[in-house]
Amino acid sequence: MGAFTPWLLFAVLFSQSAIAAIKPYIPTEAEYNTECKTCPRSLCPNQLYYGYYDPLNVTCWTHGTEIMGDDLWLKSEAGCYITQYDVLEYDGDYTTDLAYCGRASEIQELTLAPATLVYKTECRICPEINCDVVAYLNEDTDLDLTCWYPDGQLIIDDPFWLKTTNNCYIARKNLYLSTVPSLPDLDNCGPVPLLEIANHNNENGTSEVNKRADLGAMYLINVTVGEEYAYCRSCAAERCEVEKTYEFNEEVWLQCLENANYANGTSEWWSLTTDFCYMVNTDFWESPQGDYYRMPACERFEGDESGSPDDE
Ligand SMILES: *[C@@H]1O[C@H](CO)[C@@H](O)[C@H](O)[C@H]1NC(C)=O
Ligand SMILES: *[C@@H]1O[C@H](CO)[C@@H](O)[C@H](O)[C@H]1NC(C)=O
Ligand SMILES: *[C@@H]1O[C@H](CO)[C@@H](O)[C@H](O)[C@H]1NC(C)=O
Ligand SMILES: *[C@@H]1O[C@H](CO)[C@@H](O)[C@H](O)[C@H]1NC(C)=O
Repeated sequence: MGAFTPWLLFAVLFSQSAIAAIKPYIPTEAEYNTECKTCPRSLCPNQLYYGYYDPLNVTCWTHGTEIMGDDLWLKSEAGCYITQYDVLEYDGDYTTDLAYCGRASEIQELTLAPATLVYKTECRICPEINCDVVAYLNEDTDLDLTCWYPDGQLIIDDPFWLKTTNNCYIARKNLYLSTVPSLPDLDNCGPVPLLEIANHNNENGTSEVNKRADLGAMYLINVTVGEEYAYCRSCAAERCEVEKTYEFNEEVWLQCLENANYANGTSEWWSLTTDFCYMVNTDFWESPQGDYYRMPACERFEGDESGSPDDE
């Protein structure tokens, strides 16, 4: 005893310097609105969110959803996880300067429930009409839902939105009633900040299709019939079969706009109603194609069987 070998001395020094290098925390700032999640995955519910330049301390690192080619996530002092992509660039290596959060931190526990869309639906990066559209989904699309948000944009009479496993939010109003999941079966999504697709790309969160440049569209709008009788047709043209007749001052809910181009060079705006038939917009008091409503064009929905006549 008492005889230190050079190897043992080296090992003692090495392990002491390695321990000394691990910091209890590293101060940083959020680079833009970003979600701090209960697990290090895009689909996990939010515990809280940070706004632009909010300071935070991060205490350990882990692996999670790959964001822009990097799967490193950091645990905030608040106990939730944030992708390192969303905080200020660190002039060092988190994986040597901070402790690993542990295997348990990498486990993703999601609640899931299936549901089906009844209407054409914009799936948005956050649950408000001014949030970017991630995907245009057609009626009868089957979805897996993972959490609910109780204070989203009011759609008709329902403020609840649900997050899909494609990491975007749909209004509960757009689901077949019989497929609406029971809320206690799913997690609360937690607080959701205003997010922008430009800052929040991830492997499955962003659809390459159909991102619109203009501001959010109003969805499922309520207009009133301004004619004695107004016909709702199988496609967007006078020649199309009458499927339903509405009366003066009757309320009609619209899903999207269809521009009918006629052979004589004129064109006319029509709307697809929630009865899945088309009405010419001049039959309404309101002007659904006007800027005020920002209705989406029906053609933005993938695989839409266009109601627009090719020629007349
Ligand atoms: C980070 O931790 C330090 C030391 O405890 C504290 O002084 C500082 O206020 C913390 N920063 C934030 C944003 O909580
Ligand atoms: C993204 O999609 C691919 C293919 O559908 C799937 O294998 C992968 O698990 C998804 N990743 C996440 C984080 O959901
Ligand atoms: C539809 O619109 C009218 C007037 O624009 C309004 O009075 C009515 O309450 C609306 N209906 C619903 C269900 O929101
Ligand atoms: C053009 O054609 C449409 C559809 O046939 C018709 O309703 C409209 O009155 C026509 N307009 C003119 C200027 O001829």
